[in-house]
Amino acid sequence: MMLTLLAKKREKQRLTRDEIKKMIDGYVGGQIPDYQMSAMLMAICCNGMDDEETVDLTMAMVESGDIVDLSAIEGVKIDKHSTGGVGDTTTLVVAPLVAAAGVPVAKMSGRGLGFTGGTIDKLEAIEGFSTALSKEQMTKQVRDIKIAIAQQTDALVPADRMLYALRDVTGTVSSIPLIASSIMSKKIASGADKILLDVKFGSGAFMKTVEEAEKLAQAMVAIGELVGRETRAVLSSMEEPLGKQIGNSLEVEEAVQILRGKKDGHLKQVCYVLAGNMLHMAGIVPSVRAAYPVLDSLIQSGKAMEKFREFVIAQGGKTDFIEDLSILPQASYQMEVLSEKEGYITTMDTHQIGMCASLLGAGRMKKGDAIDLSAGLIMHVGLGDWVRRGDRLAVLYTNKKEALIDASTLLRDAIKMSEHSVKKGRLIYGIVDKNGLHTE
Ligand code: URA
Ligand code: CA
Repeated sequence: MMLTLLAKKREKQRLTRDEIKKMIDGYVGGQIPDYQMSAMLMAICCNGMDDEETVDLTMAMVESGDIVDLSAIEGVKIDKHSTGGVGDTTTLVVAPLVAAAGVPVAKMSGRGLGFTGGTIDKLEAIEGFSTALSKEQMTKQVRDIKIAIAQQTDALVPADRMLYALRDVTGTVSSIPLIASSIMSKKIASGADKILLDVKFGSGAFMKTVEEAEKLAQAMVAIGELVGRETRAVLSSMEEPLGKQIGNSLEVEEAVQILRGKKDGHLKQVCYVLAGNMLHMAGIVPSVRAAYPVLDSLIQSGKAMEKFREFVIAQGGKTDFIEDLSILPQASYQMEVLSEKEGYITTMDTHQIGMCASLLGAGRMKKGDAIDLSAGLIMHVGLGDWVRRGDRLAVLYTNKKEALIDASTLLRDAIKMSEHSVKKGRLIYGIVDKNGLHTE
């Protein structure tokens, strides 16, 4: 069977729903070997899949494991997913904000890998916090307080875990139908009624250009709509780290400052666009714009912060860090990185800044590696800033003193300056929904 399917895909023919289902079941069941699946993945990489094939692949993957049923929770359940980046702490802000507005958040998250962080690791910077929730605990908690964030279990989309591991070692990660089905299968299996995606573009993103990000967004929105789950995608910039603080406890700190109304900037702006779209998709506000004053008042009244506190308590965490952020894991060593040049910051290699945080201990190179929750860095400059020699670019935090020199070199090299300023790109490029791309 697999030889026929391989020949079809090699000759740029479409695979039927039945063929795709048999292939995925056969691979997960061990009847189709890795070498045949690798050849298929490469054929898909080269010859693509149309929207219908991509949906069939996605649903075959969804059916390879557990499917979460959130129907016991009242209201429109909306899941939010980011394609990943550096200093991307949106979930910790957006989840309590929209829950405080009355939208139920039942979210499954993952750990960080490589240069990108993961929500589960960040939450573990909070003493006592547990993300190992059963389905029953999750449902009860969302009914009681509207918010729960749990670790994605191995029972969710096993086909994706197997395919992703194979793609990783066969040069077949960067294919839009494969990425789109990978992400959407996990969102669909997680049980949400509607899906909001944050698709990143730029030097710190999977998709380096806005055009590629738009194509991925279109593919994912098409999948969502074809399976009856309203899906929108925000296209947002990763040309520089999103938040100023990178690293697990440092990112929790920044999220708390935003929820308190003590911090503005790009991270908060993207959180508002995401939360605004979620409130709109849930039918709580008549337009995304109408959500912004609602979000402002949730922060100013302390309701968003209160929701965050309830959430931490419900999952077993101690809340004293909310009043005193220095209770979060702290690194033993810090080092200021000073500029050796003068000029306008024209580009940042955000991927390299993420690698710098990883080197300090904040990230893992492979699945299962231990990480240092206190490690990371705080950026003191952004794109377009004018910097003098000796100005502080960033402060590094680590327990590995020996990493400081290499990390400071990585960081300095990641920031390019020029005597002329350049026009900055937009933080939010646009929104993709079933009607296409909307840019304001
Ligand atoms: N993230 C995923 O979950 N899957 C991919 O294929 C790429 C990024
Ligand atoms: Ca601190």
